[in-house]
Amino acid sequence: MEAADLGSERGGQQVIHTLLLLTLVAVQDTAAGKMVYTKWCAGCHGDNGAGDGQGARHMVPPPRDFTGAIYQIRSTPSGQLPTDADLLRSIDEGLGGTAMPGWKSRLSERQRRDVLAYIKTFSTFFADTTQRPQPIAFSKEPGGDGGADALKVGRQFYDSIGCRKCHGDQGRGDGPSAPTLKDDAGHPMFAANLHENWRFNGGGTVEDIYRRLRTGLDGTPMPSFSDLLEQKFLTDEQLWRVAEYVRSLSPKEPPVVRDVIHAPLTKRVPHAPDDSAWTAVDTYWFPLVGQIIRKERWFAPAVSGVWVKAVHTADSIAIRVAWDDRSQSPDTAWLAHLGRVFSTLSDDSTREQPVPWPDQLAVQFPVSSPTGMERPYFLMGSPSAPVYQWRWSSTARATAIAGLARGVDRFDPIQGAGGGIATQSVYDHGEWRVVFTRALASPDTANQLPLRTGRAIPVAFFAWDGSNGEHGTRMAVSTWYFLALDEPVPARVFISPVLAMVLTLGLGMLVIWRAQQKTSYRRQQ
Ligand code: HEC
Ligand code: HEC
Repeated sequence: MEAADLGSERGGQQVIHTLLLLTLVAVQDTAAGKMVYTKWCAGCHGDNGAGDGQGARHMVPPPRDFTGAIYQIRSTPSGQLPTDADLLRSIDEGLGGTAMPGWKSRLSERQRRDVLAYIKTFSTFFADTTQRPQPIAFSKEPGGDGGADALKVGRQFYDSIGCRKCHGDQGRGDGPSAPTLKDDAGHPMFAANLHENWRFNGGGTVEDIYRRLRTGLDGTPMPSFSDLLEQKFLTDEQLWRVAEYVRSLSPKEPPVVRDVIHAPLTKRVPHAPDDSAWTAVDTYWFPLVGQIIRKERWFAPAVSGVWVKAVHTADSIAIRVAWDDRSQSPDTAWLAHLGRVFSTLSDDSTREQPVPWPDQLAVQFPVSSPTGMERPYFLMGSPSAPVYQWRWSSTARATAIAGLARGVDRFDPIQGAGGGIATQSVYDHGEWRVVFTRALASPDTANQLPLRTGRAIPVAFFAWDGSNGEHGTRMAVSTWYFLALDEPVPARVFISPVLAMVLTLGLGMLVIWRAQQKTSYRRQQ
């Protein structure tokens, strides 16, 4: 009761806010908005707002077609126009996980309001000013949130109202319907990976998620669940629990990129990805981006980053790489999706036939430990300066081989069983987990980097999602980072405080003893 009252009060405030904003916007000249639009937006959204700018050919999802007036991020019920405040939010903050940038720091408030007024002129739907879009009177998050019981309720409804059909059992966007999803215009669409809330279009807080559940993302398969509230299938509080459950799947804070992976010294090497020894080891996140330097360029990578852990013993190293991937490729169930990807991205690449490619991962090092800051070209070296790589593929028993890459299109495997590396991998509900192990020393020092303790060893990562059409240069890449095999802490560091104490005490005793000796000696005299 109380929550509902609060909600409508907030709703009222929002209406007033919106009305104020509308009055402001109305007095603005759309000519000024057009100038901003032409300069900053048309390259993606097209001169006439049809979502067909120059850049559009490279993007999944493609830029919004403003002529249809269908918007994802709204405070209004499904099927209705957004409020100006909604549009301004998208313009200010951008849409997470897509090519749509935020403009708050790039354009003045005036410019943002002008361009907002201008994009509304692309559709006649906004012309009828007697029909102002009305925001939903959202409730506030009920108390007692976050506890295990609340999350249990959330999980229960996540299953019963069908979220897992699209988002999958663990929320990584790998549900049974996932390969079939497309937007209203037929473009391929992924169900959001609920483990990466920092990439949600409309923001990643519990409140943002709750709002998206109430409004749906119009133009996409993501429905509104407001009807279920009206039908009393679940209560408003239970829907909040679903939002809390979804929020709990992502880390508390968006991952921070740290430059150096510390591999502590352990007694044994954990070969299996799910070996319990891994739980105590620090995880490092490295974002990946589409490879857009060499043809064929790739603007729509499906793998957004890798989570890395590493440990070493006196003679071996194990590196565990985990990443989210909606499909265990090769998988023919995704061929239709792949066809949609290829027809959406009419970029500089030659048209290919969709083929069920495998998933792949590469871990890259220099061939020898660099002495200064110099490192080979991060994009797989060059013919004269090769890089040393471990290449894993989901086909052929999901094994890996070591070899030398001399640029993006040449890889020479090192002879012998896997080129000296061993791998174990697991695919589990939308996540790959792969452990690579190798001896630290290498008999073939000309081709294989000897891994030594106490040095910063450059390392980089590459990933391919086969079901998304990724192979060859169509891949996700990282830049160089570093791996450090931590040295055993020298014994003297442990002893020294104790030793210092013994010494101080000892010296003190000695001084007292000497003093006493002296006095007694004097006394004797
Ligand atoms: C680099 C390309 C790019 C540029 C530049 C760009 N956009 Fe976008 N924009 C996108 C993409 C892609 C989407 C669709 C994202 C999606 O569907 O999830 C989008 C979506 C939108 C939306 C829809 C939000 C919703 O709720 O559906 C608005 C509004 C918008 N852009 C406004 C602008 C304005 C105004 C500018 C210029 C100041 C601009 N965009 C510049 C790529 C771009
Ligand atoms: C029919 C398939 C489908 C169902 C059912 C579905 N979703 Fe989605 N959901 C999607 C798609 C597709 C997207 C991505 C839309 C986009 O990228 O613009 C999405 C996006 C999301 C997002 C991200 C919102 C944002 O701001 O980007 C969240 C959170 C989410 N869904 C949660 C849920 C929950 C919770 C349920 C169940 C109550 C659910 N979804 C049911 C298909 C579905």
